[in-house]
Parts: sequence; structure tokens; C-alpha cells
Amino acid sequence: MQKLPTVLALSTTVLALAVSLSGCEQSDPDSPAFKRRQAFKQIVRAAEPLGKMARGKDPYQPDTFIDRAHELQQVAGLPWDHFPPPQPTDREKTRAKPAIWQQTEKFETERRNFIAAVNGVVAAGDTRSLDRVRPAVEKLENACMSCHKAFRAD
Ligand code: HEC
Repeated sequence: MQKLPTVLALSTTVLALAVSLSGCEQSDPDSPAFKRRQAFKQIVRAAEPLGKMARGKDPYQPDTFIDRAHELQQVAGLPWDHFPPPQPTDREKTRAKPAIWQQTEKFETERRNFIAAVNGVVAAGDTRSLDRVRPAVEKLENACMSCHKAFRAD
């Protein structure tokens, strides 16, 4: 009788290992979840330097800011074609909440606010004024957070 908890604990460990291993194998570059994740990675890569300059963590360099802002503008449209309705056969891990396909208008509003914020960052960058850049980047970051709060699982 006393052996039982040990056996159970062990099999739980084996199971967890098997699940995490199969999790690695399951990454499918053709799946929508994989493609949108890649797109968001491109977005964050372009947006991060903007945030650092706006916060004074990196020195504000107007030319670099303008380059990164345009890069962001180019990749800002990439994720949105990769949100087809979920299928029972989907295996790729995802943090996309079902609410995306239930509250489609709200999701679309969040997407539009984000694109507007990106355009605002580009316009602010073109002024070469840190005082303009700062609130524009703040607006952008709020747009990311607002959508994540509603539509991305923790
Ligand atoms: C309109 C909604 C929306 C907006 C706007 C948005 N995101 Fe996301 N983001 C999501 C959703 C949904 C996911 C989860 C995708 C999935 O796992 O399938 C996600 C995932 C991500 C990921 C995770 C990639 C990974 O490796 O798992 C990053 C990073 C990210 N977003 C960054 C950003 C940044 C930075 C911004 C703003 C500059 C932003 N997002 C704006 C909805 C949004």
C-alpha cells in the first residue's frame, strides 16, 4: 500500500516528460498558430528599440527611430491573416483565446487601434521630437496590452 504514492508520482513525472517532449515535436511551421507567433516576433523585434528610446533606456537617435518605425509599419499587418477559426485537428500550442472568434468586432477594433498607433509612431518619429515620440510609443504599448488582456491567454 505504501508504495502506491511513489508509483503514482513517478508515472506523473513520466507523463509530464512525454507531454513536454511531444510538445516540442508538434511545432508545425505550416500551422496558423506558428505563423502568427512568428509575425508577432517580428513585431516585437521592431517595436522593442522604439520603446527603449522612448523611455530613455537607449539614447534617442531620430534616424534609427525612423528606420525601426517603418520596419514596424511593414510587419504590423502580418499576423492578421493567420487567425482562421480553430479546427478540431489543430495541434499547435497557442495562447489565442476563443474570444477572438466570438467577439470578432472587438478583436477587429483592437487590431485597428493597433494599426492606428503604429501609424502614429511613424508620424511622431518623422518630427524628430522626443516629446512627440514618447506619447506615441506609449499609445502603441497600450494597444498591445489592451488586445493581449482581452484576447491572449497568460
Ligand atoms: C489585436 C490583438 C493584438 C495586438 C494589437 C497585439 N497582439 Fe501580440 N498577440 C495577440 C495574440 C492573440 C497572441 C497569441 C497568438 C497565439 O499564441 O496564437 C499574441 C502573441 C504575441 C507574442 C507571442 C509570440 C510567442 O512567441 O508566443 C508577442 C511577443 C506579441 N504578441 C507581441 C505584441 C506586441 C509587442 C504588440 C504591440 C506592438 C502586440 N503583440 C499587439 C494579439 C495581439
